[in-house]
Amino acid sequence: MTLSESVSKPAYMGASAPAIEHHYDLGNAFFELWLDESRTYSCALWDGDDDTLFAAQQRKLDYMATGARATGAARVLDIGCGWGGMLRHLVERQNVARVVGLTLSPSQAESIGRWADDRYDVRVQNWADHEAEGYDAIISLGAFEHFAQHGMSREKRLMAYRTFFGRCRDWLQPGGRLALQTNIAGRARPLDRQTVREMLFVIEKIFPESVMPPMSDIIEASENTFDVVTVRNDPDHYVRTCLTWADTLRERKEEAESVVGAEVVSDYLHYLESSARQFERRSLGLARIIFERV
Ligand SMILES: C[S@@+](CC[C@H](N)C(=O)[O-])C[C@H]1O[C@@H](n2cnc3c(N)ncnc32)[C@H](O)[C@@H]1O
Repeated sequence: MTLSESVSKPAYMGASAPAIEHHYDLGNAFFELWLDESRTYSCALWDGDDDTLFAAQQRKLDYMATGARATGAARVLDIGCGWGGMLRHLVERQNVARVVGLTLSPSQAESIGRWADDRYDVRVQNWADHEAEGYDAIISLGAFEHFAQHGMSREKRLMAYRTFFGRCRDWLQPGGRLALQTNIAGRARPLDRQTVREMLFVIEKIFPESVMPPMSDIIEASENTFDVVTVRNDPDHYVRTCLTWADTLRERKEEAESVVGAEVVSDYLHYLESSARQFERRSLGLARIIFERV
């Protein structure tokens, strides 16, 4: 690598492809059992006691897409597109002409390929390797947690996040928007033993090589590349999302066990219920941030 290449394209420091596959390539059939019909795997935006998970996910997709000013756009990028819920929303509800989705999971890309037409360009590709002319808007939901790793120093995390914001800036015109949703580290206070045990379980068994960023990291790393337009912190929305997923998985436990085995199902129930507890105690937060490119 030449010096100029290393300056313009710093090394990626987030979760590796095998670490991502460890989670998302458990198989489409498993996740289909407990996610909503849009297969959205990130916190929903709830409204009222009678709401359904599907409606709350659509509300979230709409909030983030309109926040990014994606409506009617020619080209929109979704970084960490999962099973394509946002891509489909952009094309079908926001009249976007062409969407590009990036994922590190081959089984997610394969699942989108079963229904997507030529308006959809889905790639198994790390955003750090993505080359593009430009986009009208960028969206990323529930993926930023994978862009640095547990155990990194703050300095290194900031470097990793600055690289991400720098790439997004390069792909947008001035005034272009990035809508980012991510879990964040919660309030600093002594953690009780149960919370520490549950956090370690998630880091070791469910999401290896990932980390929940403090809000201050996100703000500091985006300085000089993006202005913050709006921020919401919605931990209670993730309590309800996780508990709804857990209830559905419990109801369909036997089917799920026949797909991935009893141990994985039990680990996932534990992860969803303990995540709900952490959002409830505010050891975790849920940030929805609309940025505008400087
Ligand atoms: C929790 S899922 C969220 C999926 C989707 N955004 C949603 O809300 O349903 C995280 C996604 O980020 C993707 N991902 C993680 N690290 C990535 C990277 N470095 N480049 C591209 N995608 C990445 C994973 O493959 C997965 O699709």
